[in-house]
Amino acid sequence: MRIFTVYEQNLLRKFNFDPYELARNPLYFHTPVEYIIGHAEFCDELFFVTPDTLIPRIETQQLVDIAFNLHTDQKFIKFADVGCGSGCVGITLAKKFFEANINFYAAFIDKSRYALDITRANIINLLSQFEIQIEKDENVFYFNKYPSTIKIIEHDVTCKLKLKGIFDFIVANLPYIPTDRIPYLDYSVKNYEPKIALDGGKDGFQIINKFLLNVRKLTKTVILEVDDTHDERFIIQNYPKLKTLFKFKFVKDCFKKQRFIIAATR
Ligand SMILES: C[S@@+](CC[C@H](N)C(=O)[O-])C[C@H]1O[C@@H](n2cnc3c(N)ncnc32)[C@H](O)[C@@H]1O
Repeated sequence: MRIFTVYEQNLLRKFNFDPYELARNPLYFHTPVEYIIGHAEFCDELFFVTPDTLIPRIETQQLVDIAFNLHTDQKFIKFADVGCGSGCVGITLAKKFFEANINFYAAFIDKSRYALDITRANIINLLSQFEIQIEKDENVFYFNKYPSTIKIIEHDVTCKLKLKGIFDFIVANLPYIPTDRIPYLDYSVKNYEPKIALDGGKDGFQIINKFLLNVRKLTKTVILEVDDTHDERFIIQNYPKLKTLFKFKFVKDCFKKQRFIIAATR
């Protein structure tokens, strides 16, 4: 029998599931509640999620705050959400910019086309009050409400990005867990959440390193969510070249763990 937390029970009831019935069904003994109901809460909104998208984490809300607070004095912002998954980070930022009367160009980028289908569904669901139009061009979708624009791009960011113009900032929550730690993750994480969203390679920083080298000419600022082992010493010891290309600031999360890097291009 499974024991749901009060928070989980409330979420299940909100979507008309009976927590007591599910608790006795072996099919649901380990399935994350968010995948059962197909939704996850993030920054006071409900986002669609499927097993093709990571379930947004509470720490990631701080990534949104850091990015937003660095850029509130501009009339127009050009930004990208890289490794967008459900789209929770970029969509929350888009809402905040809309509400602050700041127009924007936003690019949502992910390697997984399945995740991007969910990004698109969330954009339509959560930004529809802004009367966004949709155009489709192969794997590139444009959501357009003059003068703000949203573009969805399927791309592996370890390869060169063909994006035009300079971004004010790029926010990225790419996979950052070292490969050999994956087997030790919670059962419900390692067996239900997509590996492509978790596995950051040998030291957890391999995708992020390639991505930083690829985007350094495309933006002034990159705001990253990283593993708690990815601190200043780790970068100096393992990625000395990055130190010559970026100025780094390290920020702790709400659990007082090293979690974010603000990288300014030199
Ligand atoms: C940790 S999840 C973050 C999802 C979402 N941004 C969030 O905060 O909940 C990482 C995302 O990066 C994507 N990803 C993994 N490798 C990638 C790559 N090389 N290029 C682009 N996206 C990648 C995955 O598909 C996944 O959606």
